[in-house]
Amino acid sequence: EKGGYPDFMMKEIHEQPRVVRDTLAGRLTGGTLTIDELDLSHEELNLIDRVYVIACGTSYHAGLVAKQLIEGWARIPTEVEVASEFRYRNPIITPTTLVVAVSQSGETADTLAAIRDARVRGAKVFGITNVVGSPVARESDGVIYTKANKEIAVASTKSFLGQVVSLTLLSMLLAQTKGKLTTSQIKLLFKELADTAEQIETILSDTTAIDEAALACKDACSSLFIGRGLGSAICAEGALKLKEISYLHAESYPAGEMKHGPIALIDEGFPVVAVATQSPTYEKTISNLQESRARGAMVVAIATEGDTEIKKHAEHVIYIPKVRDCFSPITASVPLQLFARAIAVARGCDVDQPRNLAKSVTVE
Ligand code: F6R
Repeated sequence: EKGGYPDFMMKEIHEQPRVVRDTLAGRLTGGTLTIDELDLSHEELNLIDRVYVIACGTSYHAGLVAKQLIEGWARIPTEVEVASEFRYRNPIITPTTLVVAVSQSGETADTLAAIRDARVRGAKVFGITNVVGSPVARESDGVIYTKANKEIAVASTKSFLGQVVSLTLLSMLLAQTKGKLTTSQIKLLFKELADTAEQIETILSDTTAIDEAALACKDACSSLFIGRGLGSAICAEGALKLKEISYLHAESYPAGEMKHGPIALIDEGFPVVAVATQSPTYEKTISNLQESRARGAMVVAIATEGDTEIKKHAEHVIYIPKVRDCFSPITASVPLQLFARAIAVARGCDVDQPRNLAKSVTVE
């Protein structure tokens, strides 16, 4: 049932090109995006003036991506919050607030409680879940199903990708509704979004650089993941993946925060994993790599194919195909999943069933 792969995590990582294709199927007709399941009129969507993305764990990291896309494209103020915090405070909710609840299992206790609370306060709630008919689906006003199919490995991979692609679509839909993206821009973006399926295939076809970097890091006691912008969101997910399946401590920081504390951790051989793909802040991230290496860090960089400069600033470079920055979370998260898995395997861990964790968390 593992389809010839050594574990479910590896099988599920390899399903991701299909997840992208299935998530996008039927969503664009003649330059217009459609997400009918949301069950909101154009007018209602147009009135939305605040968005909260509520989730836990990996799903929360998909929310970090969504915040940047919704604000960047649709210009709607967006907050991302872990459900266990959201539910116990007094968030500002009005009838024009949209709450997007993201949950693979659709049954996470804190996320469900947050949905109930938000609806009582008068918000519209969209659920994004992988499980048809799950409580999150039933209790939301509208639901988008991620097309990951059943995920067995405890560490979430393909469902994260399905969440990111679904949230990217939702962000584009909000921007289209608000008149912030034209039909031709939507068409172009949609095509490039669809192209990420093939780009993930390219990443999966040769993992030599990832495996080498993993072997070099496997005996570390701690590690830092740094990036800026969307790269910072991807780092949060990369660090979570590594700690949960390999038990190697990993912490993510926006790269610009290094000087404000975390750089003190760095000594000879300390792994610093950087998302340094082409983006408006590429040069700034390079400076952070130089500062890290000057203190002995072993830098592993995720970089854009064709970037030869980066080799001067990293011991290990993992190249990925060039994509527009807004789609980098889809491609750049894949090598970090493989990196975490390779380290877990090298450390003799059970990658599918890490200690102390359960696939769904139905109690607080
Ligand atoms: C990490 C992981 C967890 C879940 C979290 C939320 O790989 O799987 O962090 O993402 O427990 O679960 P869902 O998305 O089912 O609400």
